[in-house]
Amino acid sequence: MALPWWRRGAIYQIYPRSFADADGDGIGDLRGIAAHLDHLEALGVEAVWLSPFYRSPMKDFGYDVADYTDVDPVFGTLADFDALVAEAHARGIRVIVDVVPNHSSDQHPWFVESRASRGNPKRDWYVWRDGREGGTEPPNGWRSAFPAVERAWSYNEATEQWWLHSFLPEQPDLNWDNPEVEAAIHDVLRFWLDRGVDGFRIDVTQKIAKDPAMRDDVPGEPARSEDWQPTIHERLRRLRAVADAYEGERILVGEVYLLDLERVVAYVNGGDELHLAHNFVFLQLDWDAAAFRASIDRWDELSSEAAWPAWFLSNHDHPRVASRFDEGTGLGEARARAVLLMLYALRGTPFVFQGEELGLPDAEIPDDRIVDVDGRDPERAPIPWAPPSDAGPGAGFTTGEPWLPITAEAERLNVAAQEADPASTLHLTRALARLRAAEPALQDGAQRTYDAGPDVLAWTRGDAFIALVNFAAESRPATLPGGGEVALSSDPKREVGPVGDTITLAPGEGLVLRRSC
Ligand code: NOJ
Repeated sequence: MALPWWRRGAIYQIYPRSFADADGDGIGDLRGIAAHLDHLEALGVEAVWLSPFYRSPMKDFGYDVADYTDVDPVFGTLADFDALVAEAHARGIRVIVDVVPNHSSDQHPWFVESRASRGNPKRDWYVWRDGREGGTEPPNGWRSAFPAVERAWSYNEATEQWWLHSFLPEQPDLNWDNPEVEAAIHDVLRFWLDRGVDGFRIDVTQKIAKDPAMRDDVPGEPARSEDWQPTIHERLRRLRAVADAYEGERILVGEVYLLDLERVVAYVNGGDELHLAHNFVFLQLDWDAAAFRASIDRWDELSSEAAWPAWFLSNHDHPRVASRFDEGTGLGEARARAVLLMLYALRGTPFVFQGEELGLPDAEIPDDRIVDVDGRDPERAPIPWAPPSDAGPGAGFTTGEPWLPITAEAERLNVAAQEADPASTLHLTRALARLRAAEPALQDGAQRTYDAGPDVLAWTRGDAFIALVNFAAESRPATLPGGGEVALSSDPKREVGPVGDTITLAPGEGLVLRRSC
């Protein structure tokens, strides 16, 4: 049976504000994405996931949705969206959109009504409670996921009740215990499915089921404000049924932000909930070969036949790999390349965040340019498409003033310069995609990690391939039983050709070898 499309190759995350700006206002837009489909096609991605482009006051840059079924004017129009989907599909690139079911914007008409009075028909669409201590204290001790926000409750003077917000006060939590809310979100999915999308990335999936009694957390026990076992899985099964009612394979990828692999795997093991769950346990690992091996093995131990991993090490909420794993070694870029190789060579779907194919570091954001409440501007800096010396200070991202500063390394780290350099990270990413596409063993071949020596992560794919990554800051020997031939290295200095049963890996090198036997 042919492998489902979402298992074959990479899914590429686009953060629309920072990808490409077609109208010169300094903010990326849908027409900007459409103008760069050549880049995505050359990368060989199976699909793109678009972070939110819906109408929004942008307090959380689109994760505060004021209209789930319209495009914010800053990003374009529904017609632009339809054109983008048609053009992407014509090139064989599928389109996944973000859905934000846990909360809306406080400007969403549902919340405007809900807030208006206790008797409003939409009152129960959000989570309103009386305060403690005669109303002056919040209903419980739940905290916002943004440390700067502190408590997850704000007080509405007019109706003398508190509303729950797991993020900003301007992002009130929807009440998923109300079936009307669930039905309304199902309709949102259908709206985009009808327009031809191939799936959804579901924001903070684990938060759409909470303890209805809203009890305080108990230290050492799982939080009660998320992943509520009696209800989460049935809600996911119903979301899955919405997607399954459509032709073709429309997928659900959950942001499942739980740092307990057992609980994450439960979202995919049944085969009737999420297709893929982003694994944040993996994202948060230290740069340590033994830790990576243990985590990869743990996933395999816990997962069922139906489950399929989603591997990623960066997104718009976390520092970029080249910065995070540099650790003062000067190897950040080499490690970013090795990470790309690892993501493509592991059994599972690689997720590539825009700019990782260039090995971008985080951008420096001066204090007077900070716009995010949670310190996430550096990884959201715009993509440099061309050297500033050719394209001006907007680096081909915009002809205007970019909404966030572009990386200081844009002169070297940009698409045009890397296009012209066969040794670039861009060419490495394309080569990884080509190799995986040509080799079924790298798609769904069995995987086994093995001990190749200290600081080396090593695994086999089927009988035909071995992959190795050197986590040390120095060269390291690695054993490869039976020897083989270099198929692809992340190190441009590596010579292709046959190797015996040990090989010396350069600092930060990743390697895929074709086995001799
Ligand atoms: C996760 C998103 O990735 C993040 O950017 C956002 O701030 C929160 N969810 C709230 O929607």
